[in-house]
Amino acid sequence: MSDKIQTLTGYFHEYGKSVTNPEEFWAKIADSFHWQKRWDKVVEWDFKGPNVKWFVNAKLNITENIFERNMYTLGDKPAIIWEPNDPKEQNQIITYKELFHRVNQFANAMKAQGVGKGDRVIIYMPMIPEAAVAMLACARIGAIHSVVFAGFSSSALADRINDCSAKMVLTSDGNFRGAKSIPVKPVVDEALEKTSTVEKVIVYQRTHENVSMKGGRDIWWHDAIDEVPDVCKAEEMDSEDMLFILYTSGSTGKPKGVVHTCGGYMVYTNYSFENVFQYSKGDVYWCTADVGWITGHSYIVYGPLLAGATTVMFEGVPTFPDAGRFWKIVDKYKVNQFYTAPTAIRALQAFGTDPVSPYKLDSLKVIGSVGEPINEEAWHWYHSHIGKGKCPLVDTWWQTETGGIMISPIAGITPTKPSYATLPLPGIQLVIVDGDGKELQGNSVEGNLCIKYPWPSMLRTTYGDHERCKQTYFSTFKNLYFTGDGVKRDEDGYYRILGRVDDVINVSGHRMGTAEVENAINEHPKVVESAVVGFPHDIKGQGIYAFVICDMEGRSEENLIAEIKETVNKIIGPIARPDHIQIVPGLPKTRSGKIMRRILRKIASKDTDNMGDISTLLNPEVVEAIKEGAKL
Ligand code: PRX
Repeated sequence: MSDKIQTLTGYFHEYGKSVTNPEEFWAKIADSFHWQKRWDKVVEWDFKGPNVKWFVNAKLNITENIFERNMYTLGDKPAIIWEPNDPKEQNQIITYKELFHRVNQFANAMKAQGVGKGDRVIIYMPMIPEAAVAMLACARIGAIHSVVFAGFSSSALADRINDCSAKMVLTSDGNFRGAKSIPVKPVVDEALEKTSTVEKVIVYQRTHENVSMKGGRDIWWHDAIDEVPDVCKAEEMDSEDMLFILYTSGSTGKPKGVVHTCGGYMVYTNYSFENVFQYSKGDVYWCTADVGWITGHSYIVYGPLLAGATTVMFEGVPTFPDAGRFWKIVDKYKVNQFYTAPTAIRALQAFGTDPVSPYKLDSLKVIGSVGEPINEEAWHWYHSHIGKGKCPLVDTWWQTETGGIMISPIAGITPTKPSYATLPLPGIQLVIVDGDGKELQGNSVEGNLCIKYPWPSMLRTTYGDHERCKQTYFSTFKNLYFTGDGVKRDEDGYYRILGRVDDVINVSGHRMGTAEVENAINEHPKVVESAVVGFPHDIKGQGIYAFVICDMEGRSEENLIAEIKETVNKIIGPIARPDHIQIVPGLPKTRSGKIMRRILRKIASKDTDNMGDISTLLNPEVVEAIKEGAKL
């Protein structure tokens, strides 16, 4: 692709073009892809429906754009460098040719097991190359993948399988993480007891632990690919056919399936990847996310591979065997662009610079951050000790729903500013509105972050429930996509994300709906009612604080708290486990019965000097009791 921004003037020029004539702007970028049939119209949209279509009536297959489009120049170049959890185990350097071979072979294996265009396939796998192979094989045959983070519990997995009526599950026997080996297949078995749509399960043998295989349903990956042809024709997809579903938390209890489609997602992830990271041919790029999150989809798999990049995939954790592991890998593969989350930076910062100093890190050209606001202290530590003061730090703001990076510096070209995501990418038209939806013009303003014009990789719907998509994103403010984030535009016009303005908390860069955690807590038979809020946490950014009313009869507080934590573990997974549970005599409520979370947030944050007006509460006396009981 030759649409890389090269100068600051170039950025403003491109941005200007993208706003004055978006269709021409995106058509020029899309022209460098391989379309089986060109589009009739670049974009068709209204935010009322919402109804958004990009590259209308065009036909394509995203994998042809990764493989066939570039095979002549890329064939022997590494596509994926896989670093195993255990540094003593053999790594894998997979060329584009080899990856193409594996994708074709697995695509044929899935077909042989009865999966075809439009079928939903759940991928519940560790960070192994086969997870990427599985995603690309689905895309090759037009099956819709839905990757579920392998840390989710069996009931969270079952909910997702049921919501999209998945026909197949791709998984592994187990998963290596640090010093531990974690069972994976048994979680799938348990989930499948609560579902009825899954016909086949393909299991990759990773840990060689003993697992049970159900006759007629479960097949080993190595058996499935045995004797299938390794040529698989790419399915012709409409630009607006679904590419994948990814479940994410919102302010209501049930996670929603964010739907991304083929054409627009392809164009935008490739474009944003090359520009933000200023990826040049031959560079080695590494994003430390998990493929279970949108960052893994857009910036480990699709964006980099569409750009013909070499993408590193790491199975393990930053602190195994020691806190220098990330930096060892950077030196080992001479990584040029490194992209991680603030929570990882803060966790490593806590070990000091000793684990960093043995490594040169001189291959690094760009460092990046994603998932949550990066505080100034972590920004400076990352910039000085990892970027050695010379690498631009791109703080990239975006969401599962946006599909790709929306606000970010263009590395080395547009300015950076600690804790600011800075400026929108070309094509992204931001607006800030106040609580009444009035646009706040000019600089030095703060309000709700919205987007007023479609961009190619935006969500199209929430799976099986379009009304929910409309209510969540397009109804709060008229004719605008509402992000759910608060934002400040400073005196120079730079954007700083202030965090969520809805009931969503961000724990280690993972989104959690407070209602989702409350629902899980309420499953415990002794719980009467609960309210969950976020509070500032040194490493995780935000921690989870639960205020719970319980029937205490015959129970010790300590045991009950441990049991409630375990219940959440079981229903959602360890990432949703509350950091604090406080048993309370009541919850502060308005006269209409709504819980006043503002008060609970203050107590959880130890900010109790000024509680604001509590006289309108139904039960103001409960506030004192909760304050007294708060042990932080
Ligand atoms: O609140 C914002 C925060 O993460 C939310 C999106 O979460 P998710 O869909 O899980 O996607 C995370 C990875 C793209 C946003 O609404 N967020 C993400 N990136 C940043 C951020 N907050 C501040 N700065 C960021 N760079």
